[in-house]
Amino acid sequence: MRILVTGAAGLIGSAIVELLRHDHEIRAIDNFSIGQIRQIGDVLVEEMDVANPDHVREMVRDQDVVVHMAGYTGIPVCENDPEGAARNVLVATKYVTDASVAAGVQQVLFPSTFAVYGIPPYHITEETPIAPIGLYGNLKAGCEYVLRAAQKVDGLKVAIFRQSNVYGDLPTKKSLLNILTERVRARQPITMIGTGEQARNFLHARDTAVAYKLAIEQGAEGIYNLGGRETLSVASIIELVQEAGQRLLGYTVPIERKPDRGAAKREVDLPDFHFDTSRVERELGFTPSLTLRDAVEEMLTKEGSVSAAH
Ligand SMILES: NC(=O)c1ccc[n+]([C@@H]2O[C@H](COP(=O)([O-])OP(=O)(O)OC[C@H]3O[C@@H](n4cnc5c(N)ncnc54)[C@H](O)[C@@H]3O)[C@@H](O)[C@H]2O)c1
Repeated sequence: MRILVTGAAGLIGSAIVELLRHDHEIRAIDNFSIGQIRQIGDVLVEEMDVANPDHVREMVRDQDVVVHMAGYTGIPVCENDPEGAARNVLVATKYVTDASVAAGVQQVLFPSTFAVYGIPPYHITEETPIAPIGLYGNLKAGCEYVLRAAQKVDGLKVAIFRQSNVYGDLPTKKSLLNILTERVRARQPITMIGTGEQARNFLHARDTAVAYKLAIEQGAEGIYNLGGRETLSVASIIELVQEAGQRLLGYTVPIERKPDRGAAKREVDLPDFHFDTSRVERELGFTPSLTLRDAVEEMLTKEGSVSAAH
Protein backbone atom coordinates (compact mmCIF):
# COMPACT_ATOMS: atom_id res chain seq x y z
CA MET A 1 0.00 0.00 0.00
CA ARG A 2 1.00 3.64 -0.46
CA ILE A 3 1.06 5.21 2.98
CA LEU A 4 1.65 8.86 3.95
CA VAL A 5 3.04 9.41 7.45
CA THR A 6 2.92 13.03 8.67
CA GLY A 7 5.08 13.97 11.67
CA ALA A 8 7.55 11.31 10.53
CA ALA A 9 10.55 13.07 12.12
CA GLY A 10 8.95 12.69 15.55
CA LEU A 11 8.80 9.93 18.14
CA ILE A 12 5.80 7.87 17.03
CA GLY A 13 5.84 8.81 13.32
CA SER A 14 9.45 7.65 12.92
CA ALA A 15 8.69 4.35 14.70
CA ILE A 16 5.73 3.80 12.35
CA VAL A 17 7.83 4.48 9.25
CA GLU A 18 10.52 2.12 10.52
CA LEU A 19 7.98 -0.66 11.04
CA LEU A 20 6.05 -0.17 7.78
CA ARG A 21 8.80 0.66 5.33
CA HIS A 22 9.72 -2.96 4.49
CA ASP A 23 6.20 -3.96 3.38
CA HIS A 24 4.72 -0.70 2.06
CA GLU A 25 5.54 2.31 -0.10
CA ILE A 26 6.02 5.15 2.39
CA ARG A 27 5.87 8.90 1.90
CA ALA A 28 7.11 10.66 5.02
CA ILE A 29 6.75 14.39 5.79
CA ASP A 30 7.51 16.75 8.67
CA ASN A 31 8.14 20.48 9.06
CA PHE A 32 11.04 19.73 11.48
CA SER A 33 9.68 22.18 14.06
CA ILE A 34 10.23 19.51 16.73
CA GLY A 35 11.29 16.19 15.22
CA GLN A 36 14.71 16.16 13.55
CA ILE A 37 14.94 12.76 11.89
CA ARG A 38 15.68 13.30 8.19
CA GLN A 39 15.99 9.70 7.00
CA ILE A 40 14.58 6.37 8.21
CA GLY A 41 16.26 3.49 6.41
CA ASP A 42 15.70 4.22 2.72
CA VAL A 43 12.86 6.70 3.41
CA LEU A 44 13.71 10.40 3.20
CA VAL A 45 11.53 12.70 5.30
CA GLU A 46 10.34 15.58 3.08
CA GLU A 47 9.95 19.08 4.50
CA MET A 48 6.24 19.93 4.28
CA ASP A 49 3.71 21.61 6.54
CA VAL A 50 0.30 20.14 7.45
CA ALA A 51 -0.93 23.64 8.34
CA ASN A 52 -0.48 24.65 4.69
CA PRO A 53 -3.45 23.46 2.59
CA ASP A 54 -1.43 23.46 -0.66
CA HIS A 55 1.21 21.21 0.91
CA VAL A 56 -1.51 18.93 2.28
CA ARG A 57 -3.22 18.51 -1.10
CA GLU A 58 0.17 17.60 -2.60
CA MET A 59 1.22 15.15 0.14
CA VAL A 60 -1.99 13.06 0.08
CA ARG A 61 -1.99 12.66 -3.72
CA ASP A 62 -2.01 8.97 -4.79
CA GLN A 63 -1.93 7.68 -1.21
CA ASP A 64 -4.08 4.75 -0.04
CA VAL A 65 -3.64 5.43 3.68
CA VAL A 66 -2.77 8.53 5.72
CA VAL A 67 -1.26 8.26 9.22
CA HIS A 68 -1.58 11.80 10.56
CA MET A 69 0.87 12.16 13.47
CA ALA A 70 2.01 15.77 12.88
CA GLY A 71 1.00 18.50 15.28
CA TYR A 72 1.65 20.12 18.62
CA THR A 73 2.04 17.38 21.22
CA GLY A 74 1.04 17.65 24.84
CA ILE A 75 -0.58 20.01 27.27
CA PRO A 76 2.11 22.67 28.00
CA VAL A 77 2.91 23.49 24.36
CA CYS A 78 -0.80 23.98 23.56
CA GLU A 79 -1.44 26.11 26.66
CA ASN A 80 1.60 28.28 25.85
CA ASP A 81 0.61 28.94 22.22
CA PRO A 82 -3.16 28.50 21.78
CA GLU A 83 -3.28 29.98 18.26
CA GLY A 84 -0.43 27.82 17.02
CA ALA A 85 -2.00 24.80 18.67
CA ALA A 86 -5.35 25.42 16.99
CA ARG A 87 -3.66 25.80 13.59
CA ASN A 88 -1.26 22.85 13.88
CA VAL A 89 -3.73 20.42 15.48
CA LEU A 90 -7.36 21.21 14.56
CA VAL A 91 -7.03 23.28 11.38
CA ALA A 92 -4.31 20.97 10.03
CA THR A 93 -6.47 17.90 10.71
CA LYS A 94 -9.35 19.56 8.84
CA TYR A 95 -7.02 20.10 5.86
CA VAL A 96 -5.77 16.50 6.01
CA THR A 97 -9.32 15.13 6.28
CA ASP A 98 -10.75 17.16 3.39
CA ALA A 99 -7.75 16.56 1.14
CA SER A 100 -7.87 12.83 1.90
CA VAL A 101 -11.54 12.64 0.92
CA ALA A 102 -10.92 14.64 -2.27
CA ALA A 103 -7.92 12.47 -3.23
CA GLY A 104 -9.75 9.17 -2.66
CA VAL A 105 -7.62 8.06 0.31
CA GLN A 106 -9.19 4.92 1.81
CA GLN A 107 -8.22 5.15 5.47
CA VAL A 108 -6.97 7.84 7.85
CA LEU A 109 -5.39 6.92 11.21
CA PHE A 110 -5.25 9.54 13.92
CA PRO A 111 -3.48 9.78 17.30
CA SER A 112 -5.90 11.21 19.84
CA THR A 113 -5.13 11.26 23.54
CA PHE A 114 -6.65 9.98 26.75
CA ALA A 115 -6.68 13.66 27.83
CA VAL A 116 -10.03 13.77 25.96
CA TYR A 117 -11.50 11.99 29.01
CA GLY A 118 -10.65 14.93 31.29
CA ILE A 119 -11.23 13.71 34.84
CA PRO A 120 -12.73 10.28 34.17
CA PRO A 121 -14.06 7.55 36.46
CA TYR A 122 -11.62 4.81 37.60
CA HIS A 123 -12.43 2.48 34.69
CA ILE A 124 -11.86 4.22 31.31
CA THR A 125 -13.37 2.54 28.25
CA GLU A 126 -14.05 3.98 24.80
CA GLU A 127 -17.68 4.49 25.96
CA THR A 128 -16.60 6.77 28.84
CA PRO A 129 -17.98 10.22 27.89
CA ILE A 130 -15.31 12.61 26.69
CA ALA A 131 -14.99 15.86 28.66
CA PRO A 132 -11.55 17.38 28.02
CA ILE A 133 -10.31 20.13 30.30
CA GLY A 134 -7.21 21.63 28.67
CA LEU A 135 -6.78 22.98 25.15
CA TYR A 136 -4.79 19.93 23.96
CA GLY A 137 -7.61 17.51 24.82
CA ASN A 138 -10.21 19.88 23.40
CA LEU A 139 -8.39 20.23 20.09
CA LYS A 140 -7.87 16.47 19.81
CA ALA A 141 -11.57 15.93 20.56
CA GLY A 142 -12.36 18.44 17.80
CA CYS A 143 -10.15 16.46 15.40
CA GLU A 144 -12.01 13.28 16.31
CA TYR A 145 -15.32 14.97 15.39
CA VAL A 146 -13.93 16.30 12.09
CA LEU A 147 -12.70 12.83 11.14
CA ARG A 148 -15.84 11.03 12.28
CA ALA A 149 -17.96 13.42 10.22
CA ALA A 150 -15.93 12.48 7.13
CA GLN A 151 -16.39 8.82 8.03
CA LYS A 152 -20.16 9.26 8.22
CA VAL A 153 -20.71 11.64 5.32
CA ASP A 154 -17.95 10.70 2.88
CA GLY A 155 -17.31 7.04 3.70
CA LEU A 156 -13.70 7.63 4.73
CA LYS A 157 -12.37 4.82 6.92
CA VAL A 158 -11.16 6.39 10.17
CA ALA A 159 -9.25 4.72 13.01
CA ILE A 160 -8.67 6.86 16.10
CA PHE A 161 -6.28 5.82 18.88
CA ARG A 162 -6.74 7.51 22.25
CA GLN A 163 -3.16 7.09 23.46
CA SER A 164 -1.79 7.25 26.99
CA ASN A 165 1.85 8.33 27.59
CA VAL A 166 3.93 7.17 24.66
CA TYR A 167 7.64 7.09 25.38
CA GLY A 168 10.83 6.20 23.55
CA ASP A 169 14.33 7.54 23.38
CA LEU A 170 14.49 10.64 21.18
CA PRO A 171 16.18 13.86 22.32
CA THR A 172 13.29 15.88 20.85
CA LYS A 173 10.59 14.09 22.83
CA LYS A 174 11.27 13.44 26.49
CA SER A 175 8.79 11.62 28.66
CA LEU A 176 8.94 11.34 32.44
CA LEU A 177 11.01 8.16 32.05
CA ASN A 178 13.66 9.91 29.91
CA ILE A 179 13.90 12.80 32.35
CA LEU A 180 14.22 10.52 35.40
CA THR A 181 16.81 8.20 33.84
CA GLU A 182 18.86 11.17 32.56
CA ARG A 183 18.91 12.62 36.08
CA VAL A 184 20.16 9.37 37.54
CA ARG A 185 22.81 8.97 34.82
CA ALA A 186 24.00 12.54 35.46
CA ARG A 187 23.91 11.95 39.27
CA GLN A 188 21.49 14.85 39.65
CA PRO A 189 18.52 15.01 42.06
CA ILE A 190 15.10 13.86 40.88
CA THR A 191 12.23 16.34 41.25
CA MET A 192 8.88 15.03 42.48
CA ILE A 193 5.94 17.36 41.87
CA GLY A 194 3.28 17.14 44.57
CA THR A 195 2.81 13.84 46.39
CA GLY A 196 3.73 11.61 43.44
CA GLU A 197 0.39 9.84 43.83
CA GLN A 198 -0.79 10.68 40.33
CA ALA A 199 -0.81 7.58 38.12
CA ARG A 200 0.57 7.28 34.59
CA ASN A 201 0.04 4.63 31.94
CA PHE A 202 2.93 4.12 29.53
CA LEU A 203 3.33 2.57 26.08
CA HIS A 204 6.57 2.37 24.11
CA ALA A 205 6.62 4.06 20.67
CA ARG A 206 7.64 0.75 19.05
CA ASP A 207 4.56 -0.96 20.53
CA THR A 208 2.41 2.00 19.45
CA ALA A 209 3.65 1.53 15.88
CA VAL A 210 2.54 -2.12 15.98
CA ALA A 211 -1.06 -1.04 16.74
CA TYR A 212 -1.05 1.28 13.71
CA LYS A 213 0.34 -1.49 11.48
CA LEU A 214 -2.39 -3.89 12.62
CA ALA A 215 -5.07 -1.23 12.01
CA ILE A 216 -3.78 -0.50 8.51
CA GLU A 217 -3.44 -4.11 7.50
CA GLN A 218 -6.93 -4.95 8.80
CA GLY A 219 -8.56 -1.77 7.39
CA ALA A 220 -9.79 -1.00 10.91
CA GLU A 221 -12.35 1.69 11.70
CA GLY A 222 -13.42 3.08 15.06
CA ILE A 223 -12.06 4.44 18.32
CA TYR A 224 -9.51 2.49 20.35
CA ASN A 225 -7.91 3.19 23.70
CA LEU A 226 -4.21 2.50 23.22
CA GLY A 227 -1.99 2.08 26.25
CA GLY A 228 0.27 -0.31 28.07
CA ARG A 229 -0.55 -2.87 30.72
CA GLU A 230 1.33 -0.93 33.43
CA THR A 231 -0.31 1.95 35.29
CA LEU A 232 1.96 3.21 38.07
CA SER A 233 2.04 6.23 40.37
CA VAL A 234 4.82 8.73 39.69
CA ALA A 235 6.27 7.81 43.11
CA SER A 236 6.40 4.12 42.07
CA ILE A 237 8.07 5.02 38.77
CA ILE A 238 10.71 7.00 40.67
CA GLU A 239 11.19 3.98 42.94
CA LEU A 240 11.60 1.71 39.91
CA VAL A 241 14.22 4.04 38.37
CA GLN A 242 16.09 4.36 41.69
CA GLU A 243 16.09 0.59 42.20
CA ALA A 244 17.43 -0.02 38.68
CA GLY A 245 20.03 2.74 39.18
CA GLN A 246 21.23 1.13 42.39
CA ARG A 247 21.39 -2.32 40.77
CA LEU A 248 22.99 -1.28 37.44
CA LEU A 249 25.02 1.83 38.30
CA GLY A 250 25.62 1.30 42.03
CA TYR A 251 24.02 4.49 43.39
CA THR A 252 20.74 6.37 43.94
CA VAL A 253 20.18 10.14 43.70
CA PRO A 254 18.34 12.46 46.14
CA ILE A 255 14.66 13.31 45.59
CA GLU A 256 13.57 16.99 45.75
CA ARG A 257 9.91 17.72 46.36
CA LYS A 258 8.17 20.68 44.73
CA PRO A 259 4.55 21.84 45.15
CA ASP A 260 2.08 21.01 42.37
CA ARG A 261 1.16 24.29 40.70
CA GLY A 262 -1.91 22.76 39.10
CA ALA A 263 -0.81 22.37 35.46
CA ALA A 264 -0.99 18.60 35.73
CA LYS A 265 -4.69 18.83 36.56
CA ARG A 266 -5.46 19.51 32.92
CA GLU A 267 -5.08 15.85 32.02
CA VAL A 268 -6.13 12.49 33.41
CA ASP A 269 -4.59 12.98 36.83
CA LEU A 270 -5.90 10.44 39.28
CA PRO A 271 -4.20 8.45 42.04
CA ASP A 272 -5.18 5.30 40.15
CA PHE A 273 -7.21 4.36 37.08
CA HIS A 274 -7.80 1.44 34.78
CA PHE A 275 -7.21 2.40 31.15
CA ASP A 276 -9.19 -0.35 29.45
CA THR A 277 -7.44 -1.41 26.23
CA SER A 278 -9.35 -4.65 25.75
CA ARG A 279 -10.96 -3.45 22.48
CA VAL A 280 -7.65 -2.94 20.63
CA GLU A 281 -6.38 -6.24 22.03
CA ARG A 282 -9.55 -8.16 21.09
CA GLU A 283 -10.37 -6.56 17.72
CA LEU A 284 -6.89 -5.93 16.29
CA GLY A 285 -4.91 -8.62 18.15
CA PHE A 286 -2.62 -6.02 19.75
CA THR A 287 -0.36 -6.96 22.68
CA PRO A 288 2.24 -4.57 24.11
CA SER A 289 5.60 -6.32 24.35
CA LEU A 290 7.98 -3.87 26.08
CA THR A 291 7.90 -3.49 29.87
CA LEU A 292 8.77 -0.32 31.79
CA ARG A 293 11.50 -2.20 33.64
CA ASP A 294 13.20 -3.20 30.36
CA ALA A 295 12.92 0.34 28.99
CA VAL A 296 14.34 1.92 32.16
CA GLU A 297 17.27 -0.49 32.15
CA GLU A 298 17.93 0.27 28.46
CA MET A 299 17.85 4.04 29.11
CA LEU A 300 20.10 3.84 32.17
CA THR A 301 22.77 1.75 30.47
CA LYS A 302 22.76 3.14 26.93
CA GLU A 303 26.06 4.32 25.56
CA GLY A 304 26.86 7.98 24.97
CA SER A 305 27.43 11.09 26.98
CA VAL A 306 24.93 12.35 29.50
CA SER A 307 23.64 15.86 28.96
CA ALA A 308 22.28 17.82 31.92
CA ALA A 309 18.63 16.96 32.34
CA HIS A 310 15.97 19.68 31.97
N1 LIG B 1 3.71 10.95 22.86
C1 LIG B 1 2.57 10.83 23.51
O1 LIG B 1 2.55 10.51 24.71
C2 LIG B 1 1.26 11.03 22.79
C3 LIG B 1 0.07 10.69 23.46
C4 LIG B 1 -1.14 10.91 22.81
C5 LIG B 1 -1.17 11.43 21.52
N2 LIG B 1 0.01 11.75 20.90
C6 LIG B 1 -0.07 12.29 19.54
O2 LIG B 1 0.72 11.50 18.67
C7 LIG B 1 1.28 12.34 17.64
C8 LIG B 1 2.78 12.12 17.56
O3 LIG B 1 3.34 12.42 18.83
P1 LIG B 1 4.88 12.26 19.15
O4 LIG B 1 4.98 11.84 20.57
O5 LIG B 1 5.54 11.45 18.09
O6 LIG B 1 5.34 13.78 19.09
P2 LIG B 1 6.57 14.46 18.33
O7 LIG B 1 6.56 15.88 18.75
O8 LIG B 1 7.79 13.65 18.52
O9 LIG B 1 6.13 14.35 16.79
C9 LIG B 1 5.26 15.28 16.17
C10 LIG B 1 5.94 15.72 14.88
O10 LIG B 1 5.06 16.60 14.17
C11 LIG B 1 5.88 17.59 13.54
N3 LIG B 1 5.02 18.74 13.24
C12 LIG B 1 4.48 19.63 14.10
N4 LIG B 1 3.77 20.54 13.43
C13 LIG B 1 3.86 20.21 12.12
C14 LIG B 1 3.34 20.79 10.93
N5 LIG B 1 2.57 21.89 10.94
N6 LIG B 1 3.63 20.19 9.73
C15 LIG B 1 4.42 19.08 9.69
N7 LIG B 1 4.94 18.51 10.77
C16 LIG B 1 4.66 19.08 11.98
C17 LIG B 1 6.98 17.88 14.55
O11 LIG B 1 8.14 18.46 13.94
C18 LIG B 1 7.24 16.49 15.11
O12 LIG B 1 8.31 15.84 14.44
C19 LIG B 1 0.90 13.76 17.98
O13 LIG B 1 -0.22 14.14 17.21
C20 LIG B 1 0.51 13.70 19.45
O14 LIG B 1 -0.42 14.67 19.81
C21 LIG B 1 1.22 11.55 21.50
